[in-house]
Formats: sequence, C-alpha cells, structure tokens
Amino acid sequence: MRVAVLGMGVMGRAMTRRLLTLGFPVTVWNRTPGRAGELVDLGAVEAGSPAEAARGADGVLLSLTDDRATREVMSRLAEIGSGDPSGGPVVADTSTVAPDTARALRDLAPGGRFVAAPILGSSPAVVEGRAMVLVGGERGHVDALGPVWSQLFASFSYCGRDPGDALVFKLLNNYLLMSGIAVLAEVAAAGRAAGADDTLLHDLLMRWPTVAPALHDRLDDVLGGDHRGWFTTSLAAKDLRLAAGLTEPDGPALPIARLVERRYAEAAERGWGEADIGAVVELLRA
Ligand SMILES: NC(=O)c1ccc[n+]([C@@H]2O[C@H](COP(=O)([O-])OP(=O)(O)OC[C@H]3O[C@@H](n4cnc5c(N)ncnc54)[C@H](OP(=O)(O)O)[C@@H]3O)[C@@H](O)[C@H]2O)c1
Repeated sequence: MRVAVLGMGVMGRAMTRRLLTLGFPVTVWNRTPGRAGELVDLGAVEAGSPAEAARGADGVLLSLTDDRATREVMSRLAEIGSGDPSGGPVVADTSTVAPDTARALRDLAPGGRFVAAPILGSSPAVVEGRAMVLVGGERGHVDALGPVWSQLFASFSYCGRDPGDALVFKLLNNYLLMSGIAVLAEVAAAGRAAGADDTLLHDLLMRWPTVAPALHDRLDDVLGGDHRGWFTTSLAAKDLRLAAGLTEPDGPALPIARLVERRYAEAAERGWGEADIGAVVELLRA
C-alpha cells in the first residue's frame, strides 16, 4: 500500500518515520521545502505539490496546523480528480480541526473519498507505534486504509459515518488533557509556595489516582523543565477554542474551557507559542 503524507511538521514526520520502518512506500510533501530531510535519507520520496504526492497513492494522510491549512491543501488535491478507475486514494485527515471542517473536507475530497482520523498521542508515541486513532467516515473508505490503522497505531476506534464525530471525541480528549496540565501547573506552584518538598511532591503526584496518567510525562517539565516537547501552546489554544465551540450556538457556554483556552493563548502571546504545553506554567512564574 502506497501512502502520501502531506505536512512535515512534528506529527507528519513522526507518521512518515513509522510508515517507513514498517516498510510502506511513502511520498511526502511540505509547504516549506526541506523539512523532510532525514526522512528522504530513510527512503521517503519528496514531491513538489500535494497532487504530485497523492498521484498513485492508496492513502493520503494530512497532518497540518489547522482548519484553514487543511482546506487549502484539500483544494489543491482537487486536480487529481475522480477519474481514476480504481477510485483514487482515500484522503485521511489526522489534523485536529472543527467537526464542521471535517464534513467540509469530505465534500471537497476527490470522489468524496475522505475519512477523519485524529490522533491521540505524542509524536514519540507515533514513532513507537503506541498512539491511538479515532476514525470517522464511510466504512468502505475506512476499510480501504485498514493496513494503515492496524500497523501505524496501537488502537483504532471507529466513530461512525460522520467524520465530524471523530473530531468531537478528539476535542473532548484534548480539553481534558490541556485543562489537566493547566491545573497541574497551579498545584505545583501552590505546593511550592506553601513550602512542600519538591521531590516528595513529584513522587506523590506520580502516584495519586487524581493525576491522570496522560499528565505523568509533563510532570518534570511543569516542575522545572525547559518546555522542549512535541505539542505547542499555540496548537493547544486552537484545540481549546474548538472544544469550547462544540456547544455553540445553542448549547451551554463552557466557561472553564474558555478560561483554559485563554491561559494557553496568553502563554503563546508571551513568547511560548512554539514551546510545549507545559510552558503554561510560565504564566505562574512571571
Ligand atoms: N504535536 C502533537 O503532539 C499532536 C498530537 C495530536 C494531534 N496534533 C495535531 O496534528 C496537526 C499537526 O500538528 P504538528 O504538531 O505536526 O504541527 P506542526 O509541527 O506545527 O506542523 C504543521 C504543519 O502544517 C503545515 N502548514 C501550516 N499551514 C499550512 C498551509 N496553509 N498550507 C500548507 N501547509 C501548512 C506546516 O508547513 P510549514 O512547514 O510550511 O509551516 C507544517 O508542515 C495539528 O492539527 C495538531 O493539532 C498534534
């Protein structure tokens, strides 16, 4: 199965590395040339445009910043058309976008062959095959990429025919993660200010059932790291804005989601936009 990966950011590179390790032939494209360097050395073929990368592929994985980027790149795939007798590739968007964007991408995809496939997990987890994927779309399109789901990821959850539903679950998960880290930062700051021993605080936080396992690998960073990670505060602010928007226009307002969104946006505005989400603690240090 031939795979194209569009977007050579943190996650696109991680997926490509894993696919190459598994033996998939992979073509890659990135808006800014030159970011695929070491992956080309490992066997990836670099294409000059999204359509060139997608031609001849069975699956096209998008890994792009946000809603606007995914729409732009999808519209550039239109030129491959739907005249391919095999039906053409299935486009799978692994980016985190609004549910309505996922539905619009399905309508824009060549031949409507689209699935939403947001990822739960870090880039190291993707490289090591430990990440999870949520998949939404027509079952036939999902099944056409069966080897990708079963080999690239440790777990696969089918979320139904509507691609937007996979994004709803993804945004709920990220809301829990981001709010957990923002609260963990306050717990650490409060403990310190009250004179708690740092080593004992670390030990207890690692063992308390009240601290979600997904927060464990951010604990060192929140207590004293330099915020070199894999998921930026800018992306976190975007995800929280989308999560807080899930109830619009008629559902209840989500004041806590808005508050947490503001914390990450403020961290990004204060110069931590490219730093890992643990940098939200800097607002307490300032
Ligand atoms: N990092 C994580 O741990 C993680 C985990 C799960 C999900 N996600 C989601 O996965 C997606 C990618 O995340 P990432 O961490 O890999 O981000 P990233 O490192 O910032 O990479 C973003 C990619 O999007 C491209 N891009 C941005 N705007 C574009 C446009 N208008 N047209 C074409 N390409 C464009 C960038 O190209 P250039 O190089 O040209 O700028 C780059 O390749 C995001 O939606 C994120 O929320 C991330």
